Amino acid sequence: MPDIVADQNALENARRFAGKEHGLFIDGVWREPRSGSAFEMRNPGDGTLLGQAAKGEAADVDLAVRAARTALEGVWADTKPAERARLLWRLADAIEAHADDFALLETLNNGKPLRDARLFDVPHAIETLRYNSGWATKLGGDTINLSGPGTWHAFTVREPIGVVAAIVPWNAPFAMSVAKMAPALAAGCTLILKPAEQTPLTALRLAHLVEEVGFPKGVFNLVTGFGETAGAALVEHPGVDKVTFTGSTEVGRHIVRAAAGNFKRVTLELGGKTPVIVMPDADITRAIEGAARSIFTNAGQVCNAGSRLFAHESVFDALVEGVAEHAGKLRVGPGLDPATQMGPVVSQEQKDRVLGYIEAGVREGARISGQGTAASGPGYFVPPTVLTGTLPTMSVVREEIFGPVLCAMSFSDGDLDAIAARANDTDYGLGAIVWTQNLSAAHRLSRKLKAGTVRVNGGGLDPALPFGGFKQSGWGRENGRDGIEAYTELKSIAIAL
Ligand code: NAI
Ligand code: MG
Repeated sequence: MPDIVADQNALENARRFAGKEHGLFIDGVWREPRSGSAFEMRNPGDGTLLGQAAKGEAADVDLAVRAARTALEGVWADTKPAERARLLWRLADAIEAHADDFALLETLNNGKPLRDARLFDVPHAIETLRYNSGWATKLGGDTINLSGPGTWHAFTVREPIGVVAAIVPWNAPFAMSVAKMAPALAAGCTLILKPAEQTPLTALRLAHLVEEVGFPKGVFNLVTGFGETAGAALVEHPGVDKVTFTGSTEVGRHIVRAAAGNFKRVTLELGGKTPVIVMPDADITRAIEGAARSIFTNAGQVCNAGSRLFAHESVFDALVEGVAEHAGKLRVGPGLDPATQMGPVVSQEQKDRVLGYIEAGVREGARISGQGTAASGPGYFVPPTVLTGTLPTMSVVREEIFGPVLCAMSFSDGDLDAIAARANDTDYGLGAIVWTQNLSAAHRLSRKLKAGTVRVNGGGLDPALPFGGFKQSGWGRENGRDGIEAYTELKSIAIAL
């Protein structure tokens, strides 16, 4: 491939790393999986084979859970909060020192533009580690004044929840692995990470750095493998105290059922169908750019991608034309090509799924009002697409497409309740985006929207800002104080004096 912006040596190193023999990282040691078998890792940009990852299954999961339990009750319990903080900070430094390796590995395995991996995924992971590192020394409880007879000293303490299973998807594999690992370890939990079968590469590299910076053995374990085997074994294992999951609503539902066995604590970050509301007074140029960015970034494979546009009729045509123009100009291609602005989707399966939705939308009466060009070649490319004439009953409006497909709809009435009702007409409730220059409308709409995160006039992710869903978008929150407290149990202690 010509014109690769990546340093050729670094790229060669990344390819060499991908191609080496990988094991499972359990109890501080790289082991062969019991199955003795492996599965393929591919580059979505051209479909080529990058290497093989070890196929962990139930027996390996069992070993990892035991190692995590031993570390939890032993060495990690004896590790002071300040030392946990130092280890996490050291890991952040180590990742920063190898930032470009991580970006290259992410692009190779996930397909996203290298620029995005460099500017978003890797820095976000580093900041998440540093943010949570700070919490390790600050978690604590309250003193409580009791009113019953007698004299009491009553207080609460926060204890680590225990052994955590973190199951992550393929759309931001590195950032999401770290988003789960950092608060879990900062809170004093131990962890088994299971990356998605499509994208284990950056998690493998991460495990090597965990080893290098000197985390005690068993604190962080990595089991690569498939959802139906390794993932299912984790969520059913009686030795796991908490499951933290990001992925499909379907698997989220399965996890809730499986967790009932020992009442595992569960945090779920599931699908979304984020509305983008554009009021007539919005800064239209910025709203167009924002709307395009929020649906085309990462080829739309983002849980809170702005996939439903609701624009006031006075600005609707301008919005649709503007976003369609963006779609038309987007350079779709392999993530390693420096000219690429939108990469492939992760797999042939995902490509078929997205194209299937576009076809279904058209069959049900939607119109394609703008469409870019998918790169030719063997990668899993799909065209960025703007659909109009979409109705609330259509599958493209109701279901999560997880691709670069925007459904644009208009409203004529300025009544905020009516606008919010349209936006809230979905099973999901992860995000909502509002474009307006009217401060009062911004506040009032924000309150009416049933979504875990409302963004007004732009904004992105921040490790300090809680993130999670209302309704079928999940349970609980990640990030911020709430995010780390979700890895603790609260204990009340009352002492009669
Ligand atoms: P998925 O939910 O099947 O996969 C996510 C993770 O769950 C992977 O690590 C997978 O190995 C694991 N998993 C799968 N089955 C499991 C089981 N029975 N027990 C435990 N773990 C299991 O998602 P999939 O099938 O890759 O994508 C399908 C759709 O899900 C996408 O088109 C998208 O709509 C949605 N999705 C949403 C994500 C989000 O960020 N909210 C991320 C990925 C997918
Ligand atoms: Mg699945």
